[in-house]
Amino acid sequence: MLRQRVRALRNKIRTAKQAFEVKWSKPDPKAIGHYYDKTTDQYLAAYGPIFQAVRPIDADGYIGYLAECMGIRSGMKLLDAGCGVCGVAVPLAQKTGAMIHGVTVSNAQVDHARKYITAHHLDEQVQVQAGNFESLAQLFAPDTFDAVYFMESLGYARDLKAVLKSAVAVLRPGGFIFIKDFYKKPLLKPEQKKNQQEIVYLTLKEYLYTIYDVCEVLSAAGKAGLSIEQINTPGYHADFEGGCLFEFQNPEHTAYLRAGTLPYLVAEILEIKLKKRID
Ligand SMILES: C[S@@+](CC[C@H](N)C(=O)[O-])C[C@H]1O[C@@H](n2cnc3c(N)ncnc32)[C@H](O)[C@@H]1O
Repeated sequence: MLRQRVRALRNKIRTAKQAFEVKWSKPDPKAIGHYYDKTTDQYLAAYGPIFQAVRPIDADGYIGYLAECMGIRSGMKLLDAGCGVCGVAVPLAQKTGAMIHGVTVSNAQVDHARKYITAHHLDEQVQVQAGNFESLAQLFAPDTFDAVYFMESLGYARDLKAVLKSAVAVLRPGGFIFIKDFYKKPLLKPEQKKNQQEIVYLTLKEYLYTIYDVCEVLSAAGKAGLSIEQINTPGYHADFEGGCLFEFQNPEHTAYLRAGTLPYLVAEILEIKLKKRID
Protein backbone atom coordinates (compact mmCIF):
# COMPACT_ATOMS: atom_id res chain seq x y z
CA MET A 1 0.00 0.00 0.00
CA LEU A 2 2.71 2.43 1.08
CA ARG A 3 4.87 1.38 -1.87
CA GLN A 4 1.97 2.11 -4.25
CA ARG A 5 1.48 5.57 -2.78
CA VAL A 6 5.22 6.36 -3.07
CA ARG A 7 5.19 5.21 -6.71
CA ALA A 8 2.14 7.37 -7.48
CA LEU A 9 3.78 10.35 -5.84
CA ARG A 10 7.01 9.79 -7.83
CA ASN A 11 5.00 9.63 -11.08
CA LYS A 12 3.22 12.84 -10.18
CA ILE A 13 6.55 14.59 -9.54
CA ARG A 14 8.01 13.27 -12.82
CA THR A 15 4.96 14.48 -14.81
CA ALA A 16 5.10 17.91 -13.15
CA LYS A 17 8.86 18.11 -13.86
CA GLN A 18 8.33 17.19 -17.52
CA ALA A 19 5.53 19.77 -17.88
CA PHE A 20 7.82 22.42 -16.31
CA GLU A 21 10.67 21.55 -18.67
CA VAL A 22 8.39 21.70 -21.75
CA LYS A 23 6.92 25.02 -20.59
CA TRP A 24 10.32 26.62 -20.02
CA SER A 25 12.37 24.91 -22.71
CA LYS A 26 14.49 27.27 -24.82
CA PRO A 27 13.99 27.09 -28.59
CA ASP A 28 16.87 26.07 -30.84
CA PRO A 29 18.48 28.40 -33.42
CA LYS A 30 16.55 26.71 -36.25
CA ALA A 31 13.22 27.61 -34.65
CA ILE A 32 14.46 31.18 -34.08
CA GLY A 33 15.53 31.38 -37.74
CA HIS A 34 12.03 30.29 -38.84
CA TYR A 35 10.45 32.81 -36.49
CA TYR A 36 12.45 35.70 -38.02
CA ASP A 37 12.01 34.42 -41.59
CA LYS A 38 8.26 34.72 -40.98
CA THR A 39 8.21 38.00 -39.03
CA THR A 40 11.07 40.18 -40.30
CA ASP A 41 8.76 42.21 -42.60
CA GLN A 42 6.45 42.89 -39.64
CA TYR A 43 9.40 43.92 -37.47
CA LEU A 44 10.60 46.28 -40.20
CA ALA A 45 7.12 47.80 -40.48
CA ALA A 46 6.90 48.53 -36.75
CA TYR A 47 10.51 49.08 -35.67
CA GLY A 48 12.32 50.21 -38.81
CA PRO A 49 15.74 48.57 -39.33
CA ILE A 50 16.78 48.54 -35.65
CA PHE A 51 14.92 45.67 -33.94
CA GLN A 52 15.29 46.85 -30.35
CA ALA A 53 12.36 47.13 -27.99
CA VAL A 54 14.06 49.84 -25.89
CA ARG A 55 15.98 52.70 -27.50
CA PRO A 56 15.73 56.47 -27.94
CA ILE A 57 13.54 58.06 -30.66
CA ASP A 58 16.54 59.61 -32.41
CA ALA A 59 18.09 56.65 -34.28
CA ASP A 60 21.13 58.63 -35.44
CA GLY A 61 21.83 59.92 -31.93
CA TYR A 62 21.46 56.35 -30.65
CA ILE A 63 24.15 55.04 -32.99
CA GLY A 64 26.50 57.83 -31.86
CA TYR A 65 25.69 56.93 -28.24
CA LEU A 66 26.47 53.22 -28.84
CA ALA A 67 29.73 54.08 -30.65
CA GLU A 68 30.81 56.15 -27.67
CA CYS A 69 29.75 53.58 -25.03
CA MET A 70 31.66 50.86 -26.85
CA GLY A 71 34.64 53.08 -27.74
CA ILE A 72 34.55 52.27 -31.46
CA ARG A 73 37.29 53.74 -33.63
CA SER A 74 37.95 53.72 -37.37
CA GLY A 75 39.44 50.46 -38.68
CA MET A 76 38.31 48.32 -35.72
CA LYS A 77 36.98 44.88 -36.63
CA LEU A 78 33.61 44.19 -35.02
CA LEU A 79 31.25 41.23 -34.94
CA ASP A 80 27.53 41.98 -34.67
CA ALA A 81 26.21 38.77 -33.07
CA GLY A 82 22.50 38.52 -33.91
CA CYS A 83 22.60 41.41 -36.37
CA GLY A 84 18.98 41.48 -37.59
CA VAL A 85 18.91 43.35 -40.92
CA CYS A 86 22.14 45.22 -40.00
CA GLY A 87 20.10 48.15 -38.72
CA VAL A 88 22.92 48.87 -36.23
CA ALA A 89 25.91 47.65 -38.27
CA VAL A 90 25.26 49.88 -41.29
CA PRO A 91 25.00 53.28 -39.53
CA LEU A 92 27.68 52.28 -37.00
CA ALA A 93 30.14 51.48 -39.80
CA GLN A 94 29.16 54.71 -41.56
CA LYS A 95 29.64 56.82 -38.44
CA THR A 96 32.87 55.28 -37.15
CA GLY A 97 34.72 53.75 -40.11
CA ALA A 98 34.74 50.35 -38.36
CA MET A 99 34.67 47.09 -40.33
CA ILE A 100 31.63 45.08 -39.25
CA HIS A 101 30.62 41.48 -39.82
CA GLY A 102 27.01 40.53 -39.00
CA VAL A 103 25.68 37.08 -38.19
CA THR A 104 22.02 36.11 -37.95
CA VAL A 105 20.13 32.80 -37.95
CA SER A 106 17.52 34.13 -40.37
CA ASN A 107 18.07 33.83 -44.13
CA ALA A 108 15.34 36.42 -44.75
CA GLN A 109 17.31 38.88 -42.60
CA VAL A 110 20.52 38.16 -44.54
CA ASP A 111 18.69 39.05 -47.80
CA HIS A 112 17.30 42.28 -46.32
CA ALA A 113 20.67 43.18 -44.80
CA ARG A 114 22.58 42.67 -48.07
CA LYS A 115 20.21 45.10 -49.86
CA TYR A 116 20.50 47.59 -47.00
CA ILE A 117 24.32 47.43 -47.05
CA THR A 118 24.48 47.91 -50.82
CA ALA A 119 21.97 50.78 -50.73
CA HIS A 120 24.38 52.57 -48.36
CA HIS A 121 27.46 51.74 -50.53
CA LEU A 122 29.06 49.86 -47.64
CA ASP A 123 29.84 46.51 -49.29
CA GLU A 124 33.55 46.99 -48.55
CA GLN A 125 32.93 47.72 -44.88
CA VAL A 126 29.95 45.61 -43.76
CA GLN A 127 29.45 41.91 -44.42
CA VAL A 128 26.66 39.64 -43.32
CA GLN A 129 26.09 35.92 -43.28
CA ALA A 130 23.72 33.30 -41.95
CA GLY A 131 25.29 31.66 -38.91
CA ASN A 132 24.84 30.63 -35.32
CA PHE A 133 26.53 32.60 -32.53
CA GLU A 134 26.82 29.37 -30.53
CA SER A 135 29.61 28.22 -32.87
CA LEU A 136 31.48 31.30 -34.08
CA ALA A 137 34.81 29.42 -34.15
CA GLN A 138 33.42 27.48 -37.12
CA LEU A 139 32.90 30.74 -39.02
CA PHE A 140 35.92 32.86 -38.08
CA ALA A 141 39.60 32.36 -37.26
CA PRO A 142 40.74 32.83 -33.62
CA ASP A 143 41.54 36.42 -32.54
CA THR A 144 39.72 37.95 -35.53
CA PHE A 145 37.73 40.71 -33.82
CA ASP A 146 38.46 43.71 -31.60
CA ALA A 147 34.92 43.49 -30.26
CA VAL A 148 31.79 41.36 -30.41
CA TYR A 149 28.48 43.02 -29.61
CA PHE A 150 25.04 41.57 -28.81
CA MET A 151 22.18 44.07 -29.15
CA GLU A 152 19.01 42.53 -27.71
CA SER A 153 20.15 39.16 -29.02
CA LEU A 154 21.90 37.36 -26.14
CA GLY A 155 18.51 36.33 -24.70
CA TYR A 156 18.34 33.85 -27.58
CA ALA A 157 21.27 31.94 -26.08
CA ARG A 158 20.27 28.50 -24.82
CA ASP A 159 23.54 28.27 -22.91
CA LEU A 160 25.11 31.61 -21.92
CA LYS A 161 28.54 30.22 -21.12
CA ALA A 162 28.73 28.37 -24.46
CA VAL A 163 27.74 31.49 -26.44
CA LEU A 164 30.15 33.77 -24.57
CA LYS A 165 32.96 31.21 -24.98
CA SER A 166 32.18 31.06 -28.69
CA ALA A 167 32.54 34.87 -28.86
CA VAL A 168 35.74 34.82 -26.77
CA ALA A 169 37.28 32.33 -29.24
CA VAL A 170 37.10 34.85 -32.10
CA LEU A 171 38.03 37.88 -29.98
CA ARG A 172 41.63 39.09 -29.76
CA PRO A 173 43.20 39.12 -26.27
CA GLY A 174 42.21 42.39 -24.60
CA GLY A 175 39.23 42.70 -26.96
CA PHE A 176 35.77 43.28 -25.51
CA ILE A 177 32.19 42.06 -25.61
CA PHE A 178 29.32 44.53 -25.33
CA ILE A 179 25.86 43.30 -24.39
CA LYS A 180 22.73 45.44 -24.38
CA ASP A 181 19.83 43.42 -23.02
CA PHE A 182 16.84 43.05 -20.69
CA TYR A 183 17.28 41.50 -17.27
CA LYS A 184 14.87 40.56 -14.52
CA LYS A 185 14.45 43.46 -12.16
CA PRO A 186 14.91 42.51 -8.50
CA LEU A 187 11.37 42.65 -7.08
CA LEU A 188 10.34 42.10 -3.51
CA LYS A 189 6.61 41.39 -3.24
CA PRO A 190 5.23 37.93 -4.16
CA GLU A 191 2.53 39.54 -6.37
CA GLN A 192 5.21 41.45 -8.32
CA LYS A 193 7.31 38.31 -8.69
CA LYS A 194 4.25 36.43 -9.99
CA ASN A 195 3.62 39.10 -12.63
CA GLN A 196 7.30 39.12 -13.55
CA GLN A 197 7.24 35.36 -14.02
CA GLU A 198 4.20 35.68 -16.28
CA ILE A 199 5.94 38.31 -18.49
CA VAL A 200 9.13 36.23 -18.61
CA TYR A 201 7.06 33.22 -19.67
CA LEU A 202 5.10 35.18 -22.33
CA THR A 203 8.35 36.59 -23.73
CA LEU A 204 9.76 33.08 -24.08
CA LYS A 205 6.56 31.69 -25.58
CA GLU A 206 5.81 34.54 -28.01
CA TYR A 207 9.26 35.94 -28.84
CA LEU A 208 11.29 32.77 -28.04
CA TYR A 209 13.41 35.10 -25.87
CA THR A 210 14.78 34.45 -22.39
CA ILE A 211 14.91 37.33 -19.93
CA TYR A 212 17.88 36.28 -17.79
CA ASP A 213 18.95 37.33 -14.35
CA VAL A 214 22.01 39.57 -14.77
CA CYS A 215 23.91 37.37 -12.28
CA GLU A 216 23.54 34.41 -14.67
CA VAL A 217 25.21 36.44 -17.45
CA LEU A 218 28.02 37.70 -15.21
CA SER A 219 28.68 34.24 -13.82
CA ALA A 220 28.79 32.76 -17.35
CA ALA A 221 31.10 35.60 -18.45
CA GLY A 222 33.58 34.80 -15.67
CA LYS A 223 33.61 31.13 -16.67
CA ALA A 224 34.12 32.11 -20.34
CA GLY A 225 37.33 34.02 -19.54
CA LEU A 226 35.91 37.54 -19.38
CA SER A 227 36.26 40.22 -16.74
CA ILE A 228 33.70 42.94 -16.08
CA GLU A 229 34.73 46.36 -17.31
CA GLN A 230 31.50 48.32 -16.96
CA ILE A 231 27.78 47.92 -16.25
CA ASN A 232 25.45 50.84 -17.04
CA THR A 233 21.81 51.66 -17.20
CA PRO A 234 21.08 53.41 -20.52
CA GLY A 235 21.98 57.09 -20.71
CA TYR A 236 18.92 58.06 -22.75
CA HIS A 237 15.14 58.38 -22.46
CA ALA A 238 13.68 55.15 -23.76
CA ASP A 239 11.03 55.17 -26.46
CA PHE A 240 8.58 52.25 -26.46
CA GLU A 241 6.70 53.02 -29.67
CA GLY A 242 8.26 50.30 -31.88
CA GLY A 243 7.43 47.52 -29.41
CA CYS A 244 3.87 48.75 -28.84
CA LEU A 245 3.19 49.20 -32.56
CA PHE A 246 4.57 45.72 -33.26
CA GLU A 247 2.18 44.13 -30.76
CA PHE A 248 -0.82 46.18 -32.00
CA GLN A 249 -0.10 44.94 -35.51
CA ASN A 250 0.79 41.37 -34.45
CA PRO A 251 -1.64 40.47 -31.65
CA GLU A 252 -0.20 36.98 -31.14
CA HIS A 253 2.52 38.90 -29.28
CA THR A 254 1.29 40.32 -25.96
CA ALA A 255 4.20 40.38 -23.47
CA TYR A 256 5.34 43.97 -24.11
CA LEU A 257 1.90 45.58 -23.77
CA ARG A 258 1.07 43.34 -20.80
CA ALA A 259 4.26 44.52 -19.06
CA GLY A 260 3.27 48.11 -19.88
CA THR A 261 0.00 47.76 -17.95
CA LEU A 262 1.85 47.07 -14.68
CA PRO A 263 2.57 49.99 -12.34
CA TYR A 264 6.22 48.89 -11.99
CA LEU A 265 8.93 47.58 -14.30
CA VAL A 266 9.56 43.84 -14.27
CA ALA A 267 12.65 44.07 -16.49
CA GLU A 268 15.48 46.55 -16.83
CA ILE A 269 17.92 47.32 -19.61
CA LEU A 270 21.63 47.11 -18.86
CA GLU A 271 24.70 47.73 -20.99
CA ILE A 272 27.52 45.41 -20.02
CA LYS A 273 31.10 45.67 -21.25
CA LEU A 274 33.32 42.63 -20.68
CA LYS A 275 37.00 42.28 -21.48
CA LYS A 276 38.77 39.13 -22.68
CA ARG A 277 41.30 38.29 -20.00
CA ILE A 278 44.93 38.04 -21.04
CA ASP A 279 46.01 34.99 -19.01
C1 LIG B 1 15.74 41.25 -31.51
S1 LIG B 1 16.73 40.92 -32.93
C2 LIG B 1 17.97 42.18 -32.75
C3 LIG B 1 18.62 42.48 -34.07
C4 LIG B 1 19.74 43.50 -34.05
N1 LIG B 1 20.72 43.23 -33.02
C5 LIG B 1 19.24 44.91 -33.91
O1 LIG B 1 19.61 45.59 -32.94
O2 LIG B 1 18.49 45.34 -34.81
C6 LIG B 1 17.60 39.44 -32.45
C7 LIG B 1 18.55 38.89 -33.50
O3 LIG B 1 19.30 37.79 -32.95
C8 LIG B 1 19.46 36.81 -33.96
N2 LIG B 1 19.77 35.51 -33.37
C9 LIG B 1 19.04 34.79 -32.50
N3 LIG B 1 19.65 33.64 -32.18
C10 LIG B 1 20.82 33.63 -32.87
C11 LIG B 1 21.90 32.71 -32.97
N4 LIG B 1 21.91 31.55 -32.29
N5 LIG B 1 22.93 33.03 -33.78
C12 LIG B 1 22.95 34.19 -34.49
N6 LIG B 1 21.94 35.09 -34.43
C13 LIG B 1 20.90 34.82 -33.63
C14 LIG B 1 18.13 36.84 -34.69
O4 LIG B 1 18.24 36.20 -35.95
C15 LIG B 1 17.92 38.36 -34.78
O5 LIG B 1 18.62 38.84 -35.88
